[in-house]
Amino acid sequence: MADPAKFRVGLLGHGTVGGAFAELLPRHADRIARITGLRPELSAVLTRSRGSFQDVLDGSDLIVELIGGLEPAREYLLAAMRAGKHVVTANKQLLSHHGEELWEEARVHGVQLRFEGAVAGVVPVIRVLQESLAGATIDRVHGIVNGTTNFILTEMARTGETFADALTAAQRLGYAEADPTEDVNGKDAAAKMAIIARLAFETPVHIDQVRYEGIEHIRPDDLEYARDLGLGLKLIGTAERVGDDGLSVTVYPAFLYPGHPLASVNGPFNAVTVESEAITEITMSGPGAGGPQTATAVLGDVISAMIPPASTPPATASLRIVSDVVSSFYLYLEVADEPGVLARVAHVLAEHHVSVKSVVQKGLEDQARLVMVLHPVLESKFFAAIEEIAALDAMRAPPRAIRVLEEEFG
Ligand SMILES: NC(=O)c1ccc[n+]([C@@H]2O[C@H](COP(=O)([O-])OP(=O)(O)OC[C@H]3O[C@@H](n4cnc5c(N)ncnc54)[C@H](OP(=O)(O)O)[C@@H]3O)[C@@H](O)[C@H]2O)c1
Repeated sequence: MADPAKFRVGLLGHGTVGGAFAELLPRHADRIARITGLRPELSAVLTRSRGSFQDVLDGSDLIVELIGGLEPAREYLLAAMRAGKHVVTANKQLLSHHGEELWEEARVHGVQLRFEGAVAGVVPVIRVLQESLAGATIDRVHGIVNGTTNFILTEMARTGETFADALTAAQRLGYAEADPTEDVNGKDAAAKMAIIARLAFETPVHIDQVRYEGIEHIRPDDLEYARDLGLGLKLIGTAERVGDDGLSVTVYPAFLYPGHPLASVNGPFNAVTVESEAITEITMSGPGAGGPQTATAVLGDVISAMIPPASTPPATASLRIVSDVVSSFYLYLEVADEPGVLARVAHVLAEHHVSVKSVVQKGLEDQARLVMVLHPVLESKFFAAIEEIAALDAMRAPPRAIRVLEEEFG
């Protein structure tokens, strides 16, 4: 087969996200070539100290803008689209100020302007609003769209420390910029909510039309009070239909009841819930920022812009289907209440390399219940052990096993 044609990607900005993107692209080039028939390669890079915009423009089929800020990012994107190039950006400030101008330019020149990385890092909010939910009338969107503030509020609630101390911890761990002003005062979240509202309600929203408040004034006793009431405090962006023809877009700290889908979103994670009569409610969550994470969203946009994917992409990965996997289990046994039963069960488990994480033993007349949580083990070993345990004289009922999901995120 002939080598796939090259697809030249020009990169503006080589910082946290741009640098991660430049590493990611070559690692995925072969796979993308198999999917799209075109082999992407980084053709030119522009930073403050190297490259020229004109060279990047002339030598590229698509431009990725990861400079940030309003100018010259706006000017570069407009020039790229006027030259008939698709563009991908993660620049929420730019889109929340000049989105209409940029989207209009994309329409006029028949090019794609994609921006999944601008709103909630790698959480695919833009695609879901633009494509999956295009058929739904959306009533309300709530979002935790700033990971820095969510991390700070989570830490304040967890440790009882002040805003200032939690911010220092966030900076130490890389969850806050050296200058965190726009994160903590709500402006970053306001920019993202302006973009989300624009898509959800098909109404132009400028960042100046978003009312926002930050978390700088939150005190540890606010969080203590909230905990006593069973509430959690989050910085929540809301875009909602008001009456027949109104739209409100806000960012405020808000208490949430534990049942709310955003209540359990902790640490630097982002999440967005979309409400509509047709779909009730959908929640998407995941890492909201970070170089490699955002670069993944940017690369997804590049692939989408390169070629419309076939309805079913070719099966190029040829992975082996695996049926025996590692799982954790909860095991419930009803056994005769006699000495040595636990030891016999433990012996069988050990013979099959199944180890016990925790165990509770309770007497019940002449029977006893053994409830165990087991460490992750290959399922075939676990079920071999269970078969042997089921055959023990001391068993009074068949063993009951339920898988335990051990993953914790955030
Ligand atoms: N960081 C994240 O986690 C994250 C998440 C979501 C979205 N974003 C968005 O992604 C974009 C990039 O963010 P980042 O964190 O990667 O920024 P960054 O680390 O500050 O990198 C910015 C890059 O742009 C270059 N640059 C800045 N001004 C320029 C100019 N006038 N001309 C040419 N190059 C210029 C810088 O050049 P030098 O190398 O010469 O300084 C640097 O390479 C922003 O729009 C940001 O909002 C970031």
